[in-house]
Amino acid sequence: MNSDPLYSDPDFAQFYDLENGWGDDFAYCANMAKHAESVLDLGCGTGELLAAIAPKRGVGVDPAGAMLDIARRRKGGEQVEWVQADARSLELGARFDLIMLTSHAFQVFLTDADQSAVLDTIRHHLAPNGRFVFDTRNPATKAWAQWTPERSKRSLMHPKLGEVNVWNDAQYDAASQVASYQTHYQPERSTHIYAANSRIRFTAQPVLAERLKAAGLMVSNWLGDWQGAPFKATAQEIIPIGKLAP
Ligand SMILES: C[S@@+](CC[C@H](N)C(=O)[O-])C[C@H]1O[C@@H](n2cnc3c(N)ncnc32)[C@H](O)[C@@H]1O
Repeated sequence: MNSDPLYSDPDFAQFYDLENGWGDDFAYCANMAKHAESVLDLGCGTGELLAAIAPKRGVGVDPAGAMLDIARRRKGGEQVEWVQADARSLELGARFDLIMLTSHAFQVFLTDADQSAVLDTIRHHLAPNGRFVFDTRNPATKAWAQWTPERSKRSLMHPKLGEVNVWNDAQYDAASQVASYQTHYQPERSTHIYAANSRIRFTAQPVLAERLKAAGLMVSNWLGDWQGAPFKATAQEIIPIGKLAP
């Protein structure tokens, strides 16, 4: 199980929706879900997207109880089945019209074996005509280079804590393609700093293409951003959209 405090610790999960939310990625997936009766969201987090889609059968899977607690409480959350589980070993015994991993959830899988395991989960849970979609940041754009305290400095408004200063720091290991990054939340009116260490992996598109193929998945469209542009070497995002290989 992933024990990243950003997601498993309620002290950090309380900031998630204040920093993240509806954008072009969610809009794109919601559009894909229009004709899907069943939707599986792997690494669903606080569940904003799945609760908004509200399919006939929606299942959100995440190992982080603190994130699922928020998902369960949100408007529309009662229509979704929230499952506390690891996407690498999930066996729901059901198949879905759409399977998605959003907000770079795919990057929490740090090894080749972990990535293959989650792709196997997708294959085992896709309906014959079902589609999958996920995003992972393109290593070519070196996003981690922006995650310095100076460049990442921002603030957010917390309903109870007031203004909170936020910044990151990151180190990238080219051998493992893993970025280790720190997230700091410091409420203006306190000296306490909530600090979390996290790790995510950056995978090049040709490597991902091979891994998807090996998992029995066929990509019909590679996007490079959530506005729908095709993937190119300098794209910010790598977004495969596909189905079961014939
Ligand atoms: C960046 S968040 C994305 C959350 C959500 N998809 C969204 O769009 O807001 C990554 C999520 O992946 C989850 N995660 C980490 N390890 C996981 C695993 N082994 N299986 C499934 N989800 C996992 C985390 O708990 C976290 O909620």
